[in-house]
Amino acid sequence: MLKISRKKLESKALKQIPDLEESVFFQFEKINIPKNKIIIQLEFPEFKIDNKVTLKNIKLDINHNTHLCIIGNNGSGKTTLLKCIYEKLKNRKDIIVGYVPQFYDEILRKYHTVLDFMTDNQMEDTTKIRKYLANMNFTNDELLGKIDNLSNGTKAKLILVKLVMKKCQVLILDEPTRNISPLTNPVIRKVLKDFSGTIISVSHDRKYIEEVMNEVYILMENEVKRKRKLECKSKRQNK
Ligand SMILES: Nc1ncnc2c1ncn2[C@@H]1O[C@H](COP(=O)(O)OP(=O)(O)OP(=O)(O)O)[C@@H](O)[C@H]1O
Ligand SMILES: [Mg+2]
Repeated sequence: MLKISRKKLESKALKQIPDLEESVFFQFEKINIPKNKIIIQLEFPEFKIDNKVTLKNIKLDINHNTHLCIIGNNGSGKTTLLKCIYEKLKNRKDIIVGYVPQFYDEILRKYHTVLDFMTDNQMEDTTKIRKYLANMNFTNDELLGKIDNLSNGTKAKLILVKLVMKKCQVLILDEPTRNISPLTNPVIRKVLKDFSGTIISVSHDRKYIEEVMNEVYILMENEVKRKRKLECKSKRQNK
């Protein structure tokens, strides 16, 4: 019998593992909205949840094409602020808005299967959907399977793909890179960096903030304060 050393077997096995994650591919279409269009002007003295003041003295103006990140301590109200923004934007007729919540099940729980979510429970040609999901390395089993069986990273990719298909122009993203694997993360950052629409996001991810964002705000107890450009270290060119 042919003897192969353990070392050789291991190296052979490693070579045989396809680097699926590196081939993740998706991109948003170019968005044609005037650069200086105001997406939202937010101003309110306070916002309460269950009679408890959660946000105070919020003043934030966001123009189209801005890639903005809100940072702040845990529990400071970042998710609450993002939800307020989404509530105000979601029914706008002049822009297409997409939202990735911090906890994916908030939007996924009303769907049973991956295809239900992608088609929004409508009868639709699934060829295009299959192509998009295949590019994100969804296996056939995942594509035909239940959402409950997906990992958090795959759920995040699923929601992002839908935003691409919907041709969203404004993305509201709550910690978009948090559950994404280290191999896929650079792809996600590149796609978002190249996105020609508006991003309003929350993140603790230093690389995401440095590479993708051009405005950073700190949410504090009594105000939301813009960080100076130099501090943001944004390398993004304004397109
Ligand atoms: N549905 C809710 N009911 C009651 N309290 C809530 C609710 N949602 C948020 N809160 C409270 O509001 C405050 C702000 O929460 P929020 O999730 O917005 O913070 P965050 O900055 O996003 O935190 P993290 O960094 O942990 O994600 C917290 O004290 C939280 O406990
Ligand atoms: Mg949060």
